[in-house]
Amino acid sequence: MPNSPRIRIFDTTLRDGEQSPGCSMSPPQKLVMARALAELGVDIIETGFPASSQSDREAMSLIGRELRQTTLAVLSRCLAGDIETSAKALEAAAKPRLHLFLSTSALHREHKLRMSREQVLESVHKHVSMACGYVDDVEFSAEDATRTEEDFLIEVARVAVAAGATTINLPDTVGFTTPEEIRGMFQRVIAGVPDSDRIIFSAHCHNDLGLAVANSLAAIEGGARQVECTINGIGERAGNCSLEEIAMVLKVRNAFYEEDTRINTPRLVGTSQLLQRLVGMPVQRNKAIVGANAFAHESGIHQHGMLRHRGTYEIMRPEDVGWESSQMVLGRHSGRAAVDQRLRALGFWLEEEELKLVFEQFKALCEQQRVVTDADLQTLMQGSATQN
Ligand code: KIV
Ligand code: ZN
Repeated sequence: MPNSPRIRIFDTTLRDGEQSPGCSMSPPQKLVMARALAELGVDIIETGFPASSQSDREAMSLIGRELRQTTLAVLSRCLAGDIETSAKALEAAAKPRLHLFLSTSALHREHKLRMSREQVLESVHKHVSMACGYVDDVEFSAEDATRTEEDFLIEVARVAVAAGATTINLPDTVGFTTPEEIRGMFQRVIAGVPDSDRIIFSAHCHNDLGLAVANSLAAIEGGARQVECTINGIGERAGNCSLEEIAMVLKVRNAFYEEDTRINTPRLVGTSQLLQRLVGMPVQRNKAIVGANAFAHESGIHQHGMLRHRGTYEIMRPEDVGWESSQMVLGRHSGRAAVDQRLRALGFWLEEEELKLVFEQFKALCEQQRVVTDADLQTLMQGSATQN
C-alpha cells in the first residue's frame, strides 16, 4: 500500500477505549457502537482483545457477521495461543486484520517482559510470520515505542516488515512524548525501513499530558498515514487521541495539512452521544467539538459579533459536526442585541424604549439565576407592561 495522502482512521473505542475504568460494553452494546462507527466512516474498527475474554470473542462474531465493508481488527499478544484465538475470532470478518503487539522499550523489556533485545526481535519475527499465515492484513505495534532506543525501534520495524506486517504502529503508550519528538521519530523510523512506501505507519497516542491530538498531528507531519483514536477520547488513564478532534483538525485546517479522512463529520455529535449513553460517561461541557458548550456563546461582545458574522467567533459550522445550530446562551454576560434577537425569535418585537426596560428586568433575573431560558423570557414578557 502506498503512503497516500488520505489518513486512515483506526478506531479503538471498543478495545483501548473500553479498557478505561467504567467503560466496559457488552457484545450487543459493542455491535450498536460498531454500526455507528461504520456509518461515521472509520476505516478500521478494533473490536476487542479475543484472548482476554469470551465477551470480546462474542462481540467480534456479532460485528463480523454484520459489518462486511469495514476492516475489523482484533488485538493479540505475541503468543501462539493468542494468535490462534484471534485468528479464529476473525473468521467472522469479511476484511480481517490481526493486530499484534510487543513492548520494545528497555524499561518494558527488563521489568515487564524480562527479554533481551534479541529475544524481542525473534518473537516479533516468529509471531508476525505466524499471523501472516492466517490473514493478509497484519499490523504490528511496538508498545512503548516513544521510550524505545531509536536504533532498536528501527530494527524491530524492519523485522516486522520483513516477516509480513503491512502496518507498523509506533504507540506513545504512556503519553510521554512531545510533538517535535514524535515527528522526528516517525521521519527517522520511516527512513530506516526499506521500501517504506509499501507500509502504512500508524500513530497511537495516549493523553497523559493532554498532548494526544497534537502528537498524532505531528506524527502525520512525520509521515504517519493511520491514526488510532477513540470517540470522546476514552481510553486507559487520561485516554487516547480523540477521533472527533483529530478528524476536525484535518478538515478545518485542510489547506495546511492537505490530508483528509473519510469521516462523515455531521455524524460526530450523534456518535459521541451514543457512546456517552452506552457507557454512562458524559463528556465535559467544554469538550472540543462534542461538548455542550462547543458552539455556545454567552458574552455580549461575542454574541454581538456572532449576530453580525458567525465567523467572528466560530471556526467551523456546528452543522458540520452534527449540532443543529450555535447557541446564544442568555446570562449575566449577555448584551441587549442578543436578548432582542431571542425575543424576536419568540415573537416579541420591541421598540427601543420597551427593550431597554425589559433588558433591565432581564439583568435583574440574571442576578438570581445563571441562565435565562426561553420560558423565563416568556414569563418576563407576560408580567411586563410592554407586552405586544
Ligand atoms: O497504548 C498502546 O501501546 C496500545 C498497544 C497495545 C497498541 O494500546
Ligand atoms: Zn493504547
